[in-house]
Amino acid sequence: MPSRSFFSGKRVLLTGHSGFKGSWMCAILDELGADTYGYSLEPPTDPSLFDVAGIGDICTTETGDVRDLPKLKEFYRRARPDVVIHMAAQPIVRIGYRDPVTTYETNVMGTVNVLECARTCGMPDSLLNITTDKVYRNNETGIPFRETEPLDGFDPYSNSKSCSELVTASYSRSFFQDAAVSTARAGNVIGGGDFAPDRIVPDCIRAAMAGRPVVLRNPGSVRPYQHVLEPLTAYLDIIERQSEDHTLSGSYNVGPLEEDCVTTGQLAEMFCTAWGEGASYICEGDSGPHEAGLLRLDIAKIRNDIGFEPRWRVREAVGKTVEWAQSWMDGEDMLERTRAQIREYGAVVR
Ligand SMILES: NC(=O)c1ccc[n+]([C@@H]2O[C@H](COP(=O)([O-])OP(=O)(O)OC[C@H]3O[C@@H](n4cnc5c(N)ncnc54)[C@H](O)[C@@H]3O)[C@@H](O)[C@H]2O)c1
Repeated sequence: MPSRSFFSGKRVLLTGHSGFKGSWMCAILDELGADTYGYSLEPPTDPSLFDVAGIGDICTTETGDVRDLPKLKEFYRRARPDVVIHMAAQPIVRIGYRDPVTTYETNVMGTVNVLECARTCGMPDSLLNITTDKVYRNNETGIPFRETEPLDGFDPYSNSKSCSELVTASYSRSFFQDAAVSTARAGNVIGGGDFAPDRIVPDCIRAAMAGRPVVLRNPGSVRPYQHVLEPLTAYLDIIERQSEDHTLSGSYNVGPLEEDCVTTGQLAEMFCTAWGEGASYICEGDSGPHEAGLLRLDIAKIRNDIGFEPRWRVREAVGKTVEWAQSWMDGEDMLERTRAQIREYGAVVR
């Protein structure tokens, strides 16, 4: 687990801090005593975790585009980061089909620009690029992917993240030979404060709040679902460990235990049980563009090299997500609820 002794007082530049994962990351970094410098576009949804939990009050925040290299450089110089976490992205598969150009520009050139800042404005002690488990060529054999397998995501979103991996590898070989630079390939995350379209748990919450059944497009799809705190603490563990030992730089899968790779239908079932009255689902045939039906990750490397172990099983992750959403509906202080879940998870070691 990430330690206060490492992160306290560290200057952390985080792109994508106004997003779902970025906002949770800001809250964890605040608990760790770090100084966070966030750079991203406006929150991608309304409502957003960023606004609901007042994340702008716990970090230095800049509204900017990762495609705008001069502006990013200016912010980077101001932040003088010890740690860089690159999360900003166009992260939705279906939007990638609708707008491949923006998806590639953001996810590929955004990565180039962040790495270019590090190359020209000062190398941080530790840099992590967040990609996804969808970076692999997926023949749907069901065999869990290892980090050495070919990168060739199918659709524009997945493929742009494969490209982001390749860009990072090239910069590492060409410019950052002795530096601590890694990529992290996490699976689907769930958690309070995700208001994104076309994601299963936010869809379930919206439907339950409206008192109608959620429609499942691909109830048989198997995905490595995890609570958002799992990959975020794994990211921070990688950052801390590679900073102490640069030979740990590389690529890491981040996912749940094998038995927690469940189908979308099973996840919806768990959601309905946790939500209680008013939650239900129906299944309809797949009407959308191609999305992988079977995706499993081998997490042996991060367990062995970094010492990361998943903590919350999938049912607990669903329960915590429902707890967060119902607290929000009840008008609670959502920064406090978010902090409480971070502490329950044990995400911060003194
Ligand atoms: N949510 C998941 O299940 C999941 C799974 C695997 C990987 N990821 C990756 O994690 C990261 C965060 O995902 P999320 O779910 O929090 O997404 P999100 O949509 O909630 O947040 C995306 C963030 O990127 C910012 N952004 C988008 N385009 C930008 C641009 N051109 N310039 C600057 N900022 C820009 C947004 O403003 C926002 O802050 C992404 O890189 C995503 O690919 C997410």
